[in-house]
Amino acid sequence: MSGSFGDSAVPAVATGLDAFRSDVLAGLAAPQKTVPPKYFYDARGSELFDRICEQPEYYPTRTERAILDRFAGDMARHIGRDALVIEPGAGSGEKTRVLLGALQAPRAYIPVDISGEYLLGSAATMREHFPGLDVQPVAADFTAPFALPQSVGGLAAERATRRLMFFPGSTLGNFEPDAARRLLQTFRGMAGREGLLLLGVDLQKDVGVLERAYNDAAGMTAAFNLNLLQRINRELGGGFDPARFRHRAHYSVEQQRIEMHLISRCEQTVAVAGRSFRFAEGETLHTENSYKHTPDSVARLAEQAGWSLCARWSDPRDWFALFLFEAV
Ligand code: AVJ
Repeated sequence: MSGSFGDSAVPAVATGLDAFRSDVLAGLAAPQKTVPPKYFYDARGSELFDRICEQPEYYPTRTERAILDRFAGDMARHIGRDALVIEPGAGSGEKTRVLLGALQAPRAYIPVDISGEYLLGSAATMREHFPGLDVQPVAADFTAPFALPQSVGGLAAERATRRLMFFPGSTLGNFEPDAARRLLQTFRGMAGREGLLLLGVDLQKDVGVLERAYNDAAGMTAAFNLNLLQRINRELGGGFDPARFRHRAHYSVEQQRIEMHLISRCEQTVAVAGRSFRFAEGETLHTENSYKHTPDSVARLAEQAGWSLCARWSDPRDWFALFLFEAV
């Protein structure tokens, strides 16, 4: 079937209000309260994330950008002509612009994002920058296979069109090792025969550097974290008072991850979607894990997911790396 990824027809998975509600209710009922980090990115959250990327302490975005600026030509040579570029979790598009600008005659660009509104904005920007380029946004949760737009589906079926999954930004860090492996397997299925994966990953480094990146002095990360409560209030009729929570981010050396939490400043009961949840003073809502990998751990995960390493590019301090994998 030419209209979708993989061997079987899979319906597009849209993460609507129902999924948000059931994930939040399940997460708040757990012994360690938690909400999946993918829900950070409503319109406000996406804006706040862009502000985080501008903070002096938050090195990942500018480090990855510098690697792309420096090596995009080399990456493009490895990737070859006529690639169909699929970007799961497309962000503001700046890095994508660098890559698309370096690629030889890309066939189409398919940004995929859970935040529909934001996605249309970035698709429009991309069309402005590359007037001849076929840009076809897909609003979907990329952790499950999603349908490829019909016209691009036909195109992708042509032999010359090699699919490139572009997954920068270290979003992989949000996934537990098992889930990360499954995600890379899903990408492998989407990429198909001779498919490629260009993956950006934040690497392990000095704990002080890591913790400062998630505790910026301007408070952007705190605002981003707290916006999750406001989103729950807005969309699920929640009764959170954000002033009664504070942001905390710390690195767990044992787990090799930054953990973000919202700490309850007092004992309180919060109503969400008709149910109530009690927080003890000091109890936390765990909102994000950001795993930090090593070049070996990334290669191992990808290899277990059906990819083989072609090349790796990083910055002089080895803080961040882009890996190019080819489908086995
Ligand atoms: C988008 C998941 C890569 O983990 O660094 C930034 C999200 N959270 N600051 C990261 C984030 C707090 C970011 N990723």
